[in-house]
Amino acid sequence: MKKEFFITNRENVIKEMKDNSILVIFAGEAPQKSADEAYAFTPNRNFYYLTGSNREKMILMISNINNKISQTLFIEKSDPVLAKWVGERMSSSEASEISGIQDIQYLEDFEASINRLILTYEVENLYLDLERREFDSLPTRATMFAKLVSERYPQLKIKNIYHVLENLRLIKTEEEVAEIRKAISITKDGIENLMKNAKPGMMEYQIEAYFDFVLKCAGVTDYAFKTIAASGVNGTVLHYSDNNSKTQDGDLILFDLGAQWNYYNGDISRTFPLNGKFTERQKQIYNLVLKAQLETIKAIKPGVPYTRLNEITKEVLAEGLKELGIIKESTELSKYYYHNVTHYLGLDTHDVGSREIELKPGMILTVEPGLYIAEEKIGIRIEDNVLVTEDGNENLSKDIIKSIEDIEAFMNNR
Ligand code: GLY
Ligand code: MN
Ligand code: MN
Repeated sequence: MKKEFFITNRENVIKEMKDNSILVIFAGEAPQKSADEAYAFTPNRNFYYLTGSNREKMILMISNINNKISQTLFIEKSDPVLAKWVGERMSSSEASEISGIQDIQYLEDFEASINRLILTYEVENLYLDLERREFDSLPTRATMFAKLVSERYPQLKIKNIYHVLENLRLIKTEEEVAEIRKAISITKDGIENLMKNAKPGMMEYQIEAYFDFVLKCAGVTDYAFKTIAASGVNGTVLHYSDNNSKTQDGDLILFDLGAQWNYYNGDISRTFPLNGKFTERQKQIYNLVLKAQLETIKAIKPGVPYTRLNEITKEVLAEGLKELGIIKESTELSKYYYHNVTHYLGLDTHDVGSREIELKPGMILTVEPGLYIAEEKIGIRIEDNVLVTEDGNENLSKDIIKSIEDIEAFMNNR
């Protein structure tokens, strides 16, 4: 991403800041795993969206005081000993080049800087990213900072900038779409490689390894999420990711996976028969899921309520299951389909944004209906990533093999 993207993102946030306010956003820090080992670090996505930096511990501070804007990025000081162990810190000039922020200071000066602003001026508001998933989610750096600030500066009003950021992130720029296209393209290559090599009798993780190899060779940032490689009845467990069962001849295998490219994610599901040939029953169920998916994608255009997509999927699946004699009433659908059909996709796989709104150009949605019939060992999910355009939509993952004919042809010509 060019630095202009991050500069614009900050400008958009600044527009939402009241006068006499400070905004502080933390990059985060990798949590400890065990002994002296930490989990792999990944930057807080709102911090990344505003700075382009992927380094730990940094802090972004923006102030709007008497309508004068200042932007500062606080970075770690270079440490010659640490440099020998883990490598160099990001330099001031690199930090400036990546983010477009001129004023780069060291982290050790952060507290004094914010204190000086609050003491010198009539600062009224402090904006923080106070995202909270659950009532009892663990404290974040921002919530801990909010608590500390409330004690030390009780005159300050703490405000949440999270919803401003989620509204901005909801609409993707062309540059962001390009990153997601790249993530999808690598995901496609990985899927084709695992389909080329999958055979009944392999362990699920062995097939998964063919996906991993392609991603590693492509130099991805990360996986979009933990790969689901679920054969037979495992495919009926939505987030099965043990991937440690032996596959059986005649079974389907459901893959739900994605590459991450520059922190932007692909999120694709495909289901195919390990032996390369669908049974008649598998075909019936597969084609019903596919019909629900195609009908749902067809409905995507600006102005359609987000919630309408779930309704369309459910209508098609319920009608189809009734025709097949699997259910009698639509209300029974929840026995075989028990998740939502869509979520936003972006810097997070389950990306941020209100779901109580109408679709707008620039949103990227997954469309992922499924049917899970445990008693028949059939678990099928088909998932694509769809961009809302001015006059409809574009399926960004349309080139990934999906129809029964194409899957069978691919598997039988390997
Ligand atoms: N892979 C998680 C999802 O499809 O939402
Ligand atoms: Mn998925
Ligand atoms: Mn998904």
